[in-house]
Amino acid sequence: MMTTAQTNPMTGINAYGKELTNEDIDNNIHRNFVGGLWEELGQLQCDFLKKQGLQPAHRLLDIGCGCLRGGLHFINYLEAGNYYGLDINSSLIQAGLIEAEKAGLKDKRPHLLVNDKFKLDQFGADFDFMVSISLFTHLPMNNIIRCLSEARKHLKPGGSYFATFFAAPTSAYLDKLRHQPGGIVTHYDLDPFHYSFEELSWMAALSGLEARLIGDWNHPRDQQMAAFSVR
Ligand SMILES: C[S@@+](CC[C@H](N)C(=O)[O-])C[C@H]1O[C@@H](n2cnc3c(N)ncnc32)[C@H](O)[C@@H]1O
Repeated sequence: MMTTAQTNPMTGINAYGKELTNEDIDNNIHRNFVGGLWEELGQLQCDFLKKQGLQPAHRLLDIGCGCLRGGLHFINYLEAGNYYGLDINSSLIQAGLIEAEKAGLKDKRPHLLVNDKFKLDQFGADFDFMVSISLFTHLPMNNIIRCLSEARKHLKPGGSYFATFFAAPTSAYLDKLRHQPGGIVTHYDLDPFHYSFEELSWMAALSGLEARLIGDWNHPRDQQMAAFSVR
């Protein structure tokens, strides 16, 4: 399903209701739109999943894949047809397709989908691994619960869903937090969002998933890692 800036439900919640123009994409604006650190963060997420057991024959779903900052590395590593990416922003998916073509990865046949409700049925696949880098950091709880609930339907038994978040020291932490390294300021009810691990565990439980804290994984802006699996 394609979305527009007018109908994109993230408008007013995070920056990703805005569609980039073709000119923006020609000028590589998409790389900064997803947070920059293009090579470093792309490599970091692929290395992390490999350490967690990702093999070329596994099927991987990247929820909030954006313009394939990590996706390019995953597509390169996985066997053809095993990378699946979903995002709400069609201009970022378009930019990702251009990036994949420039990187000579078109033959690896990535499956890319634009959807604004985390609906995965269209892929017609279940997944060994799922990943969301810098997605929950931009989402209110309701959206995270929707995301986890839809992911649960397509996560294989024994499969793992890894997602990053900005950690708060307690639940309902209403004050701002400044994270180091990186200096990012997060909020309870404004993008970028912070959550306690207990809040994440509760969201997971509502979605039929179990949460495990991994914590620090060398993210340059202090995003922490959590893992979710089928209960
Ligand atoms: C900071 S970017 C990270 C993209 C990618 N994971 C990476 O590491 O480059 C956040 C991504 O989440 C996507 N996003 C935000 N809200 C979303 C939603 N409700 N559904 C799906 N994707 C969403 C944005 O469009 C954007 O591509």
